[in-house]
Amino acid sequence: MPELVSSLPTALAVRSREVELPRSMTVPLPEHIIAASEEMREIVSVVRAIAPTSITVLLIGESGTGKEVFAELIHDLSERKGPFVTVNCGAIPEGLIESELFGHEKGAFTGAVGQRKGFFEAAQDGTLFLDEIGEMPLALQVKLLRVLETGTFTRVGSTTSLKTNARIVAATNRDLEVDVRAGTFRSDLYYRLRAVMLRIPPLRNRREDVPYLIETMLEEFVRKHRIVDVSGRARMPQIEPEAVSLLINHEWRGNIRELRNTLEQLVVLTCAVPREEGYCVISRRDVERALTDGMATGWDGDRYARPLPAPPLARDKEQTERELIYRALIELRSEIAEVKELLQGRNTISSSGTLALPPATPLNGKETSRIVSLDELETNAIKQALEFYHGNRRQAANALGISERSLYRKLKEKGLE
Ligand SMILES: Nc1ncnc2c1ncn2[C@@H]1O[C@H](COP(=O)(O)OP(=O)(O)OP(=O)(O)O)[C@@H](O)[C@H]1O
Ligand SMILES: [Mg+2]
Repeated sequence: MPELVSSLPTALAVRSREVELPRSMTVPLPEHIIAASEEMREIVSVVRAIAPTSITVLLIGESGTGKEVFAELIHDLSERKGPFVTVNCGAIPEGLIESELFGHEKGAFTGAVGQRKGFFEAAQDGTLFLDEIGEMPLALQVKLLRVLETGTFTRVGSTTSLKTNARIVAATNRDLEVDVRAGTFRSDLYYRLRAVMLRIPPLRNRREDVPYLIETMLEEFVRKHRIVDVSGRARMPQIEPEAVSLLINHEWRGNIRELRNTLEQLVVLTCAVPREEGYCVISRRDVERALTDGMATGWDGDRYARPLPAPPLARDKEQTERELIYRALIELRSEIAEVKELLQGRNTISSSGTLALPPATPLNGKETSRIVSLDELETNAIKQALEFYHGNRRQAANALGISERSLYRKLKEKGLE
């Protein structure tokens, strides 16, 4: 064997010259993704290494830390030809999850009027992102585990087994180990999912990223809100060093999402309205206000020549939600007052106690067409919430005070999907 031994280093040298690093290891990160801190750079290097494989990944981390961003990054770096398909396991009504995931045959259950492909089929050759996996009902967890182990599934109402090659990435902000101990999450599925587990740290544990996030996001919002100087050039705000320190040291319970909202508000409030100085500076005071009471107590009216742009950008999610709920309540209250007024003006309650059909002529000078049904009020509130949150169902449901499942059901009922 001496020949073999002596030829080994030469063979290795030749091989190493030939070895080309996979693209996922060399392409630059998309510009909008910031990973400057040691913690995030480590995560990115793991993502680069595992992206081209088909290994299952579990992303865990607080809300707003970037789980979805990283799920998409894994897909983008994987060079899979199929799509990135997101399933929000917490948003689908329990009874529908199985058919949504695996599809169904015609007549498989009441309402299954035709054959339908599920998310697993939609994600063929691509990535299936199971968001909020901790919300998956136990019965479905067993079925999902089987698919992960066998790579096959069957549509509801069918016996034909179909193959899937979708790469699974799951995410949760729950502590699944606690759920496993409580018996609400299957331990076998948990261990199967966490073949690779990436724990995305909260922003307060990687403050180094904050200045980079500030810079990228300010640029983004300047473009988005068309903040320009007199010559029409993009006008980047200046930010006082003390203001930056405040932002770096804030707790950011809502993580990057909260930082984004705060920065968007700061850009709009300090730059969108022309100011005497002719440029915009985000001061320490601006940041203090945004972080403490923000819109709740109102910003210094005297700083601005005219009212704030509408609709106002709320300080953070909670603030936005509060505003939305108040607005919906105020609208509802005035609608109810109008309906009451109409009912008192004319006896439109029939003897049976039901609402009589409104007469075609105006009542008390008011058109009966102004009576809005509760159903319509609800539809409007739902539309308003979805519009306000740019289609984000979870935030819309939160603001409406209902569960995501209920929102999903209502959208279906109302044909608003
Ligand atoms: N590394 C990052 N660089 C820049 N922006 C980021 C990064 N991570 C997250 N973001 C931004 O922060 C916001 C929240 O990110 P994302 O939706 O991925 O969080 P999440 O962990 O999925 O939150 P949730 O648990 O609430 O669903 C998004 O606007 C996203 O673009
Ligand atoms: Mg998410």
